[in-house]
Amino acid sequence: MTIFGNRIFTVRLQLRRIELEDLQLLARWSGDPQAHGQYLTPENHSVDHLGMQLRAGVLWNERNKTFLIELRDGEPIGTIQYWIRSEDPGAAVIAVKIARTEERNKGYGTEAQKYLILFLFNRLAIRRIEMYTDVNNLAQQRCLRKLGFELAQSLSYADQQVQRLGSLYRLDRQRFVHEPIYQYPDA
Ligand SMILES: CC(C)(COP(=O)(O)OP(=O)(O)OC[C@H]1O[C@@H](n2cnc3c(N)ncnc32)[C@H](O)[C@@H]1OP(=O)(O)O)[C@@H](O)C(=O)NCCC(=O)NCCS
Repeated sequence: MTIFGNRIFTVRLQLRRIELEDLQLLARWSGDPQAHGQYLTPENHSVDHLGMQLRAGVLWNERNKTFLIELRDGEPIGTIQYWIRSEDPGAAVIAVKIARTEERNKGYGTEAQKYLILFLFNRLAIRRIEMYTDVNNLAQQRCLRKLGFELAQSLSYADQQVQRLGSLYRLDRQRFVHEPIYQYPDA
């Protein structure tokens, strides 16, 4: 893993800070049900709204960062975000979306999450990482198992006003340091 300023480079991807010129694309994805898949609800954010968020620092601050996921040739394929829980600064939550459907099932979702997890545990004083997912989202659950997460709790949660039956998955630092997938990050 290489980190340069606002970018994290993985084997096949780069995760980078969102800029003004990305907002058209993000607004298009934001209203596109296909980009969200069956288990995420579109936020329907306009370019103006995203521009406001960008200027206000909502997408990139000490506690919350949203990255554009790009192939190494610069082709954008999705987004990944983390935020630190205000009630527990040792806990981070991640949300990921491979918005281009033809790029799913190529291992990119797992790869983007893996390197963000490495960043959070190795660069920040994070003790555990959590992710919410719909109980029927088998692709994401497969990713989470590969990444060493354990089911912590079944719960109902709100996703853009849509109530979903979900699972909360957790990876704590102790498990992270022993998980083989994180031992040789660039293998
Ligand atoms: C969930 C998501 C991030 C996964 O990203 P991805 O790049 O497709 O994931 P990967 O290719 O790394 O891994 C997917 C795994 O799920 C498996 N999978 C895919 N569809 C599946 C299904 N319907 N049932 C069971 N397993 C499935 C794949 O075979 C693969 O496992 P494998 O590597 O053992 O073969 C992506 O599908 C996505 O963005 N979906 C829409 C948004 C979303 O649901 N985000 C997660 C919200 S919590």
